[in-house]
Amino acid sequence: MALGESKGAMDMRTAFENNPHRVAELSREFEGLFVDMSKQRWDKEVFDALQDLAQEADLAGAIADLFGGVKLNTTENRAVLHMALRANREDAFSVDSLDVVEDVIDIRDRMLGFVDRVQDMHADGEITDVVNIGIGGSDLGPAMAVKALRRFNQGIRCHFVSNVDGAHVESVLEGLDPQKTMLVIVSKTFTTQETMANARIAKSWLEAGQGDLGKQMVAVSTNLQGTKDFGISEDQTFGFENWVGGRYSMWGPVGLCIAMSIGSQGFRDFLSGARAMDVHFQSESMDNNIPVLLALLGHWNQNACGLRSHVVIPYAEDLSRLPAYLQQADMESNGKFIDREGKPVKWNTGAVVWGEPGTNSQHAFFQLLHQGTEVHPVDVIAFKAPTSGHEGMHKMLLANALAQAEALLMGREAPEGEPQRFFPGNRPSTFFLFDELTPKTLGMLVAMHEHRIFAQGVLWGISSFDQWGVELGKAMANALLPTLSGASVGASHDPSTSELLARITR
Ligand code: F6P
Repeated sequence: MALGESKGAMDMRTAFENNPHRVAELSREFEGLFVDMSKQRWDKEVFDALQDLAQEADLAGAIADLFGGVKLNTTENRAVLHMALRANREDAFSVDSLDVVEDVIDIRDRMLGFVDRVQDMHADGEITDVVNIGIGGSDLGPAMAVKALRRFNQGIRCHFVSNVDGAHVESVLEGLDPQKTMLVIVSKTFTTQETMANARIAKSWLEAGQGDLGKQMVAVSTNLQGTKDFGISEDQTFGFENWVGGRYSMWGPVGLCIAMSIGSQGFRDFLSGARAMDVHFQSESMDNNIPVLLALLGHWNQNACGLRSHVVIPYAEDLSRLPAYLQQADMESNGKFIDREGKPVKWNTGAVVWGEPGTNSQHAFFQLLHQGTEVHPVDVIAFKAPTSGHEGMHKMLLANALAQAEALLMGREAPEGEPQRFFPGNRPSTFFLFDELTPKTLGMLVAMHEHRIFAQGVLWGISSFDQWGVELGKAMANALLPTLSGASVGASHDPSTSELLARITR
């Protein structure tokens, strides 16, 4: 973008001085969320140019296609309809001209009916803990949401096992009662190496501890043969369709642990927040559409300003897993160098997403954000209402959130002879101010990012819904495993891998 040369390094402080309406012009509000994008390196001219870009890319058409069930996941020939999972009965979503809403609602009712029964079992002291066994999209969303909604927990304790490192399952299971723990095995494919290994270990643990396998094992998958072969009965199995991508799946049965933690009504509220954002994304004009504006800003930062990463700082300890969740949502979706026509793209895609909660991150990497040689745009996420009973601490938290965004913008002159104390400032951030952290606002926040990621993929001309980039490592690990288990070295390896293998097996 040629405009990047003139405006990419614009001084935002001067822009604020010259335009008293800058905050109003570059911020948007939606149902208890205020998104302040005025501390980004853009102005009316850039905003208008980005609107033109959205038009050129036919973003509005792409959004209509998404909601219309068009098979946007072209390499797997699948529609992308996670929005249907949060639909109301009156909404219309179809795949191959078949309405899917009724099925979604049936499955949701069945799942939440099951959750209610598990809540009763908890009340009777039969079940105290639930362990979610899954990885990637079958773990990160539920783990993030359960933690985020800690204050809405109804009593059942939820734990998460994902890594194929046995230390994970071991450390989670120790201390749990095999007769009062429910295992929820979540895998879209029900073949994922990590999940199946952890599930086998947890199942043996249940058996050894005389748990009731029929009652205490639950499966969530699209592979119903796989769940049956594993020994999980149909009435303890919840299916979903392949038009839901793993990293977009926590709104349906993959979210079982979220529902077990916050209860059926809490889960319905979570869906309602996401649905509100769906309606906004689908129907709001491009210049008022929050996910669209965030996507355009992401494009501007990445491709015009050369700012390559995207920092996520939730000023809420309960949102500590949000950066990890967004890493998969964003980088697995948009870390692509091949466009929708199968040709290499001509620009950077997929920002590197990273972050940690504030204020901890301030004492870790904010040094680099303020004084490093590269500029990293920051999302600051804050809540007006405290997320704990400690109101005084919440004021400190908010003061820090505001201060960091202001410091990034304003910088500071250094005292004479002390250049190390100079803060250049003019470092961009977006401030997301929510009224409070509730199931509904969490749903909104996550759906906002899902749509932002999709819109960004459209602007980049890539397909955001496959993930072929994870295949190679998986296949190579499978090929290496026999050698590590003692079989003679079969396939040849590069010299470095051969040396490492030899040292491990020696
Ligand atoms: O790592 C790739 C991936 O396919 C993710 O997209 C997915 O969320 C994860 O593995 C887990 O897959 P599954 O739910 O099939 O076990």
